[in-house]
Amino acid sequence: MRCALKSFAILVLAGAHVACSGSSMPDGAGTGGQVASGGSAGFSASAGGRSPMGGAVAGGSTTPSAGGTGEIGGSMGGTGRGGSSAAGGSGARNSGGCAGCAGAAAGRVSSDAAVDAAAGGADAAGSPGSGGAGGAGGSGGAPVQVYDGQRGKSFNDGWKFYLGDATGAQTPGFNDSSWTSLSVPHDWTPALGMSQSSPGGSGEGYSIGGIGWYRKTFTLDSASAGKTIFIAFDGVYANSQVWINGTSLGTWPYGYTSFQYDLTPYVKTDGSNNVVAVRVNNKQPSSRWYTGSGIYRNVWLAMLSPVHVAFNGAFITTPAVSTTSATVSVATEVENLGTSPASVKVKTSLLDASGMVVAADTSPASDVPSGGKATTVTQSLTVSNPKLWSLESPTLHQARIEVQVGGETVDTYVSSIGLRWTKFDPNSGFFLNDKAIKIWGVCDHHDLGAIGSAVNVRAIERQLQILKGMGTNGIRTSHNPPAPELLALADRMGILIMDEAFDVWEQGKVTNDYHVYFNDWAQRDIQAYVRRDRNHPSVIMWSIGNEIGGATAATGQKLRDWVKAIDTTRPVTWGANHMKSDAGQRAVAALLDLQGYNYFVGDANSDTGNLVIDTDHKSNANWKIFGSEELSNVKSRGVYTTQNTNLHWTGCNNQQCSSYDIGWGDGFNTEEMLLLNMKRPWFFGQFDWTGFDYGGEPTPYTWPSKSSYFGTIDTAGFPKDIYYFYQSKLTGDPMVHLLPHWNWSAGTTVWVWAYSNCDSVELFLNDKSQGSKTVAADTTRLEWNVAWASGTLRAEGKRNGTVVAIQEIRTAGTAAQIKLTADRTAIAADGRDLVFVTADIQDGSGVFVPTANSSVSFAVSGPGKLVGVDNGDATDTTSYTSPKRNAFNGKALAIVQSTGQVGQITVTATSSGLTQGTVSATAN
Ligand code: GAL
Repeated sequence: MRCALKSFAILVLAGAHVACSGSSMPDGAGTGGQVASGGSAGFSASAGGRSPMGGAVAGGSTTPSAGGTGEIGGSMGGTGRGGSSAAGGSGARNSGGCAGCAGAAAGRVSSDAAVDAAAGGADAAGSPGSGGAGGAGGSGGAPVQVYDGQRGKSFNDGWKFYLGDATGAQTPGFNDSSWTSLSVPHDWTPALGMSQSSPGGSGEGYSIGGIGWYRKTFTLDSASAGKTIFIAFDGVYANSQVWINGTSLGTWPYGYTSFQYDLTPYVKTDGSNNVVAVRVNNKQPSSRWYTGSGIYRNVWLAMLSPVHVAFNGAFITTPAVSTTSATVSVATEVENLGTSPASVKVKTSLLDASGMVVAADTSPASDVPSGGKATTVTQSLTVSNPKLWSLESPTLHQARIEVQVGGETVDTYVSSIGLRWTKFDPNSGFFLNDKAIKIWGVCDHHDLGAIGSAVNVRAIERQLQILKGMGTNGIRTSHNPPAPELLALADRMGILIMDEAFDVWEQGKVTNDYHVYFNDWAQRDIQAYVRRDRNHPSVIMWSIGNEIGGATAATGQKLRDWVKAIDTTRPVTWGANHMKSDAGQRAVAALLDLQGYNYFVGDANSDTGNLVIDTDHKSNANWKIFGSEELSNVKSRGVYTTQNTNLHWTGCNNQQCSSYDIGWGDGFNTEEMLLLNMKRPWFFGQFDWTGFDYGGEPTPYTWPSKSSYFGTIDTAGFPKDIYYFYQSKLTGDPMVHLLPHWNWSAGTTVWVWAYSNCDSVELFLNDKSQGSKTVAADTTRLEWNVAWASGTLRAEGKRNGTVVAIQEIRTAGTAAQIKLTADRTAIAADGRDLVFVTADIQDGSGVFVPTANSSVSFAVSGPGKLVGVDNGDATDTTSYTSPKRNAFNGKALAIVQSTGQVGQITVTATSSGLTQGTVSATAN
C-alpha cells in the first residue's frame, strides 16, 4: 500500500459530473418538584394534582419516587450490568409521554419561524406544510399557521448560560449578569475544542462535556392568568434539572427524549419576573459517540386552556387506506386541569395539502373530570380519493383537533399526517401503498458536523438533501430518538425512518451511559418517544435497541409491550449483532416483528456464503429480515492509498483511509454488500454505517483522529467517492463519476474506476480512447489501468448510443486561488438560517487542486456570522469555531448564520499566496 498524497491536482470540470439531463450531484442538585410529562397515560400527578398525568406509575404525590436529592444519575462504575438506579434523583417524576402529559410535540408547530424558513429550500414554498406532528417545528414552508398560537411558542431566545456548576443558580435572585446571553438550541461543546484528555475519549471525539447552567427571566401578563402553562424541552443532553422561581420541577436523565413541566402553580402572571433555571450535566463518558451538551433542541412555552389536548395526546392512524378512500382514526386525549368537570366535544378536521377541509367530525359530548386524568375521545373520518403519502410524492394532510366546551373552542391542536399503509412480508419484503420498496438506508448520529448537536433545521435539511442525492430512502436514527425536526423533514421529503430508542439496556457500554437509568426510566422514555413520534408517516418501525449486550427475552418483551401499549400500527424491531452466537439476542429477535441484523456476516463466514441471514430466512418462515446496520467501511475523502491491491481492509496509514471501496466491518465492501442485498428479494433493506461522518468513534485510529471515517459523506457534507457508487445503483438521472484524481507522476499506472448508471462508459485520456466498457445490472464499477500522463481524463456515459453524462478530471498545477460557492443565494434573516460556503482550492486556470492543504481564513461581513468551519478531515483537531482551517484534499467549508438583520452577507476566504475567494448571499 502506498500513499498517493503527492502534490497533484485534479479538476472536476464545470460542475463536476456533467449530467446531460439534469445533475444528480449534491451541492456540494436538585430536589424534587412536580411531574413532567412525556410518557404515557399513567404518570402521576403532583403538585396538588395539577399535573396532567393520571395514572399508572403512581400518582398524585409530590413526593419523589426516586432519589430526592440533588445529583442526578449518580454513577455507575464499570460497564457491567447496570440497573443502578441513580436515576432520578429528583423529587418529581418527569413524564415522557403519558396520556396526560400535555405538551410539546405535536400540534405546536412552527412558531419558531426560523424553522419554517430555514427548512425552506425546495419544500418551502407554499405547501401547507407539515408542521405539527412531533412538534415538527419546521415544516410547511411558508407561513403556514398550523396551530393557533396557543401551544408551543418558541421559548428559545433570551437565555443566560454559564459553563460549570453554579451554587444557588436556581434561586430567582441569583445574579447572572456575568453569564453569556444566548439563544437555544445550544451545544456548548464545539466551542471548547477537543482535548486528548477528555473523559469522553475517542468515542466522544475528545469533546468536552461537564456541567452547565441556563437561566431565563421572563414575564407573563394578566392574559395568561387562568391558563395552564407548560414548558417543554425537545431534548437536553443530559441529566437536566429544571426549576421555576426556585421550585424544582424535576429531572430528566435521557438526553434524547422530550418532556414538559407544568409551570402553572409557580409562575407569576402580573408582569413581574419569573426565572426558569436548568442545570445540565453531561457526565462523560456518557456515550460511544459525540453527543453535544446543553439545551441542544428547541424549548417551547405553551399557554393553554385548563381543558386541552394532552402532551402529545393525539394519535392519528389510518386503519384503511386505498387510492379511493382513506379511513382516518383519531384518538384524542383530553385532560382537564381545571377545578370542575367539563363537558367536551372534539371537532376534528382533516385538511389536504392545499388547506381544504376534506373531512370533518364533531364527537358527542364527553365528560372530562378535573384532576388531570385524560379522557380519550375517538373519531373516525373518511377521505375520498385521498392523495397518498409516498416517497415520490410525500403529500401531507393535517388533522386539526379542536376541543370545545360550551360550544366554544378552548384548544386547537394540529398534527401533520400522511395517508399511507405499509406491509412487511417475510418473502417479498417491504411495501408502501402496495409498492415494493427496497430500503436503501443509512444509519446516522444526530450531530451536524461543525455546529455540533444544536438543532438547526437547515443543517438537518441539507444532510437529508445530500443523502437523497445518492438514492438514500431511509434513515435509522442511531441509536436514539431524533430531533422532532428530522422527522418533520423526513415526512416532507419522503424518507423512511427507523426510529430508535436505546443503545444500551441494563448493561452499559461506557460508564455513565443510559444503563445507569435504564431500570428506572426506560418505560417513561419509550412512552415519551413513541407518543411524540407516532403521527409521522415517515416513521415505519420502532427500534428498541442496538447491539444489546446481556439481552434477555424478559426485557425485550417488556420494551416491546410498552411500545405496543401505545402503537400497534408499526412493527417493533432492533439491531442485533450476534444472531449466530448469542442466545439472548436470538430470543429477543424471535419476539419482535422484524428481525434486524447488524453486520450479519459478522458471525458467519463471509467467504463461504454461509450467511446467518440466509439460514435464518430458511428456518424461520415468518421472520422479516433486514440489515439494521451494515458495512462500517472506513474511507477518507480524496485519499487514494490502495491501487491494484485487494479491496479488503488490511490497514491504513497517515491516520487516513482510502477512498477506493475497501471493505472493513462487514467483511464486504460497499459494492459487494449492495449486490448481496439486491439478490435477496426477501431482505427488505439495509441501513449502512453511516451516511455522514460523525464526531467520535474514529475507528481505526485514536487521537488526533476525532471523527469517524465510516461516512459516505464527510462531516463537512462533502461526498466521498463511494457516494457516487450508490448514486449509480439507486438513482436514474444519467451520471458518471471517476476516481481517483489525475495528479500522478510519469511512469505510474493508475487504477481508474468509474461509477455510472449509463449503458456504457468510454474513457479518454487527452482525447485518446482507453476503451469502452458496458454497465450490466450487477456491475458495480468499471475499471481501467491507465498509464498516467498529465492532462485530461474524460469519461463519457452513453445511453442508447448517445452521450448523456460526462465527467472530466484534469491534472492541476500549483494552488493559486480560492473559489467560494454558496449552497443558497438567499437565506432567511431570522438568526437561525444557514448558508454553507464551500471553498475549493484551484490552480491558476481554475482547476481543482485535489491534494491542497492551504490554510484558509474565513471572514464574514454583513448580517451573518461564522458559526462553524470544517474540512472533513477526521484528524483535524482545530476547533470547529476557529475561522482558520487547512483545506483537506482541496476543500474546506464555512457555515454562516443569519443574524436577524436583512442585507447582503459576504464571505471571504484568504490564504497566503492565493487569490482570495468571495461569495455573497442575501438575508431577507
Ligand atoms: C456497530 C455499532 C455502531 C458503531 C459501528 C462502528 O457495531 O452499532 O454504533 O459503533 O459498530 O463500526
